[in-house]
Amino acid sequence: MKYFLDSAKLDEIDRAYRDYAIDGVTTNPRHIQNSGKPFLTAITDIANWIKENHLEGKDVFPVSVEINPHLEKAEDMVKEARKISKISENFVIKIPCNPEGLKAAHLLEKEGIRTNVTLVFSPAQAIQAGRIGAMFVSPFLGWKEANGEDSYNYMAQLANIYKEKGYKTEIIAAAVRSGKQIADMAELGVDIITAGLSVYEDSFKHPFTNYGLGVFQDAWDKTEGN
Ligand code: E4P
Repeated sequence: MKYFLDSAKLDEIDRAYRDYAIDGVTTNPRHIQNSGKPFLTAITDIANWIKENHLEGKDVFPVSVEINPHLEKAEDMVKEARKISKISENFVIKIPCNPEGLKAAHLLEKEGIRTNVTLVFSPAQAIQAGRIGAMFVSPFLGWKEANGEDSYNYMAQLANIYKEKGYKTEIIAAAVRSGKQIADMAELGVDIITAGLSVYEDSFKHPFTNYGLGVFQDAWDKTEGN
């Protein structure tokens, strides 16, 4: 299972890559805002970081970048996606899952510009992303849970449909908030998780690990000759 970092902050991307071997990055307009930089600066800085770390290439370290969320027409989305995709070959263009967005994603994939169909909240939406051959589909778990909706059965159904139909689109379980959700998604055979740095760091911890270390330190200290 691949781990993507959900962030546009360079220091976080750098740390997650070096310390935790993340496989890619997903950004969205809120992450760009949190980076404290304007959109073009933030994504150009990420493109430069990719170069500095010798990670350039279509098959390595994909970085999802979202188009201007105000665009409503497929043709405008396509124009913007073409511009963004020229900045780095690692960029995958995030397109909203609505009728115009799906039309745009279909056109883009046909011209070789890779897409991540985002803001997906139902299996039927995800099916269309698979049918048109998007590179990624991003169902948002955390937002569903925050709305009091079940996300486990939703993801189970979606993963099952993708397996049955053999879509090549990879599923990114997005807005993942806990280690429990990471394990659930792994069990369902989901391809990729995307989450913030603290979600991953929390998932590497367990109170018994600390407790056990205390026990072993005590034993070490009481061992004669140590
Ligand atoms: C995924 O690609 C999205 O950027 C992300 O998971 C959205 O969720 P969040 O910003 O609420 O974590």
